[in-house]
Amino acid sequence: MTDRYAVVGNPVAHSLSPEIHAAFARETRQDIGYGKLLAPLDGFSAAIETFRAEGGKGVNVTVPFKFEALKFCNQPGPEASDAQAVNTLDFRDGKIFGHNTDGIGLVTDLESGLGFSVRDKRVLILGAGGATAGIMHPLLSARPHQLVVANRTLDKAHDLVARFTGNERFALTKITASPYEALNAAFDLVINATSAGLRNEMPALAEGIFAAGALAYDMVYAQHTPFLAFAQQQGARTSDGLGMLVEQAAAAFEIWRGMRPQTRPVIEMLRTRTVRA
Ligand code: ATR
Repeated sequence: MTDRYAVVGNPVAHSLSPEIHAAFARETRQDIGYGKLLAPLDGFSAAIETFRAEGGKGVNVTVPFKFEALKFCNQPGPEASDAQAVNTLDFRDGKIFGHNTDGIGLVTDLESGLGFSVRDKRVLILGAGGATAGIMHPLLSARPHQLVVANRTLDKAHDLVARFTGNERFALTKITASPYEALNAAFDLVINATSAGLRNEMPALAEGIFAAGALAYDMVYAQHTPFLAFAQQQGARTSDGLGMLVEQAAAAFEIWRGMRPQTRPVIEMLRTRTVRA
């Protein structure tokens, strides 16, 4: 019998996840179905329970339900606990396991897709919302020399940083919060995790934040954001978040199916249809 999965969100029509998982299933010869599930804003739990009762094996969770999904699962993994958000639910042995594969997806795209090693690098994250929370644990596990979280609302950056500074596992990295105006050093990697690009805006960044050979990464995909345009002007190498999208899906697929699909052909297939960053 075909095992059923879905992406749950509101809105969800734009999601590329069904296409990505269909490609993974073809390549790995897994007999799965993967659909879209539009849940009412106050109906996440009911939508999940119904899907599960009908035999669904797992779901990906997207905006705005990632935080609610954490409360819903019996056992969250460490990335999900640290992010306080879940993007993958795995229904197994009568339990609901919760994972967050967003940050793993980002680090895999950086290291395998783009050939950028995070270890010992100076890293700057722009933004301190859910997107940043989702990547902190895996990024710190890759052991950068320094991690600065910059945000317009400084308290949010401080709160996020405080969640990680006391953790022995991440003691090798100097983790700090900063307002944009106080950034006066150069970074090897600058990640835009704000939602500013969606409104064609960008944080107020000074010139000189990109070190020689720096990579500028925007977690938004298929959009040439003002941040990427600025980074290009400054001579940085740039990437949008399409690789992260496919890699977080691959990590979810591996959790569910116990095998790792190839990601590069899927990234290339989607890239031909989207604007090159
Ligand atoms: P997400 O879950 O996508 O991270 P969020 O929690 O609403 O969404 O966070 C959005 C992030 O983008 C925040 O860091 C926000 O900054 P504030 O906390 O100061 O609001 C940031 N952001 C959105 N628009 C921005 C803009 N025009 N300039 C700078 N930062 C912006």
